[in-house]
Amino acid sequence: MEIKCVGILTSGGDAPAMNAAIRAVTRAAIYNGFEVKGIMRGYKGLISGEIIPFKTQNVSNIIKQGGTILKTARCQEFTTPEGRKIAYETMQKEGIDALVVIGGDGSLTGARVFASEYNIPIVGLPGTIDNDLYGTDTTIGYDTALNTIMEAVDKLRDTASSHERLFFVEVMGRNAGFLALNGAIATGAEAAIIPEIATEVDQLAELIQNGFRKSKNSSIVLVAESEVTGGAMGLAKRVEEEYPQYDVRVTILGHIQRGGSPTASDRIIASRMGEAAINALLEGQRNVMIGIQNDEIVYVPFSKAIRNDKPINRDLLNTVKILSI
Ligand code: F6P
Repeated sequence: MEIKCVGILTSGGDAPAMNAAIRAVTRAAIYNGFEVKGIMRGYKGLISGEIIPFKTQNVSNIIKQGGTILKTARCQEFTTPEGRKIAYETMQKEGIDALVVIGGDGSLTGARVFASEYNIPIVGLPGTIDNDLYGTDTTIGYDTALNTIMEAVDKLRDTASSHERLFFVEVMGRNAGFLALNGAIATGAEAAIIPEIATEVDQLAELIQNGFRKSKNSSIVLVAESEVTGGAMGLAKRVEEEYPQYDVRVTILGHIQRGGSPTASDRIIASRMGEAAINALLEGQRNVMIGIQNDEIVYVPFSKAIRNDKPINRDLLNTVKILSI
C-alpha cells in the first residue's frame, strides 16, 4: 500500500530531544512529499482522535526545547485489543497510513503488537533517557540526562567533601544501569551500584571492604533505581545499621533527569534518526526501530529492540574503581 500520510506520536516517559526527533520526522516527511499528522498524548490521542495536521512551521524552533510538544502518556487502554481497535479506526478516519512512534521499551512493545494485529507500517525511534533499548549504541535523551546528572553530582561533591560525608545519589534507568555507571565515570564518583550485577555481588559490602575511603574523606556512590539495587534509601539504611561510622546522606535526582534543553549530541542523533525513520518507510521497512551503531544508522526489528538484556560494559565498573583510588 502506498503511504500518503505519516502520523507521529511520543509515548511513555518524555526524554530530551524528542522535539528534535519530531521536527526531523516532520521535515523529512514533508520533504519527501508525505502529509504529516501530529498525534497528541501518545496512544491516547490515537484513541481519542486528538490529531493535528503538521506543516513545517509546527516544528519551528523546537530543536532546543526539552519535553515533547506532542505531550506524552502511558496509555492503559492501548494495552487492550479494544483500545487498539479504536486506535486503528481513528487512523483510518484520519487517513494515516503509517506511524512513527518515539518512545521507550513499553511504547515500542505497543507498536509491535499494533503493527502485527493491523498490518500497519510502523517505525520506532528510541526515545528514552534509560539507554536500555537493544541494537542501538545510544537512545535519544540519554546524553542530556547524563549531563544533568553530572551537573547535579558536581554540586553534591562540594557539600559531601565539606562535611566529609558518604552520599548515595539515586539516578533513573528503570532496570538498567547505564546512567549510574557512566554518570559515575563522568563525576569521578567512588562507585556505581547497578542492577546488572546486583544479584551477583554485594556491591556495598565490597565497596566498604575495599576501603573506599583510604585516601578520601568524602564519597559519592551513584545508585541505579531498581528493586535489585535496593535504591539509595535501602543502601543508606544498610550503612546506618552495618557501618554506623559513616555519616550518610541520600539524594534522589528523580524527574529532573528527564528535563532540560538537549545536548548537541542528543539533537544530532534525534535529527539523524528522525530523517532515517522516513527513509525506512520509503524503503518499505516496517516494524523496525532506528538505531545507531558505530555512527551508522541501522534498522533493528522491534522484537530485538525490546529485549530486556542490552549488555552493559562491565569493565567500566573497574574503571570507576581504578580511577577513584
Ligand atoms: O523510562 C524513563 C523513566 O524516567 C525511568 O527511568 C523511570 O523509571 C520511569 O521513567 C519513571 O516513570 P514516571 O515518569 O511514570 O514516574
